[in-house]
Amino acid sequence: MLKKLRDDPDFIHELDFVMEKNGRIIGQNIFVRATIVTDDGKQIPIMTMGPICIANDLKRHGYGSLLLEYSLERAAHIGCKAVCFEGTIDFYGKSGFVVATTKGIRYHGLPEGMEADFFLCKELEPGYFDGITGEYATPQGYFVAEKYPAEFAAYESKYNRTMVPQFPRYDFPQPPAQAGLLYWPQK
Ligand SMILES: CC(C)(COP(=O)(O)OP(=O)(O)OC[C@H]1O[C@@H](n2cnc3c(N)ncnc32)[C@H](O)[C@@H]1OP(=O)(O)O)[C@@H](O)C(=O)NCCC(=O)NCCS
Repeated sequence: MLKKLRDDPDFIHELDFVMEKNGRIIGQNIFVRATIVTDDGKQIPIMTMGPICIANDLKRHGYGSLLLEYSLERAAHIGCKAVCFEGTIDFYGKSGFVVATTKGIRYHGLPEGMEADFFLCKELEPGYFDGITGEYATPQGYFVAEKYPAEFAAYESKYNRTMVPQFPRYDFPQPPAQAGLLYWPQK
């Protein structure tokens, strides 16, 4: 997915981070342009983030938080006003993320009544979402498995998936094509 995203027009090359320790890559994080479509039809530029990850043997040593905080600081520095994505509040809440519905932002295609506590946001400019209600859809670039099924399956088959914990899965519908996506940062 990262390989494909890096060629995506919405990938933000200034915010493509790897974390190194003693010459070894131990973590990474990326950002992608996204939009909130407001209920009155406006497009509000934001960014989405991730995947972020830390090497298995170094999890829970504070590296993830360090990488997250640094990434967000750099994103704010180049003009990002808010970040929305899917994640656990247990980790991201410590860096100021909140459940996005508390800010009036809904997740595209979520079935009626389904909890949206996995969908988080953080305003990097305080008040950026004030007065806004609208919907976020995961950018098209993330749907790698759907777009390249054979290539994806071939890649996945290289790994012994019995070693990976299986999580319950919900297949979110693909977002509508977002014609005329706003570019970020805007000059
Ligand atoms: C999520 C991830 C990046 C966190 O990195 P990390 O270096 O382990 O996180 P930190 O050590 O900075 O954690 C800080 C605090 O966040 C919380 N936290 C971290 N990982 C958590 C998890 N998986 N579940 C619940 N809380 C978590 C803990 O409270 C932790 O503090 P503690 O260890 O003192 O209890 C890392 O676990 C990871 O790579 N996970 C696999 C990939 C992934 O799921 N990425 C996120 C989705 S894109």
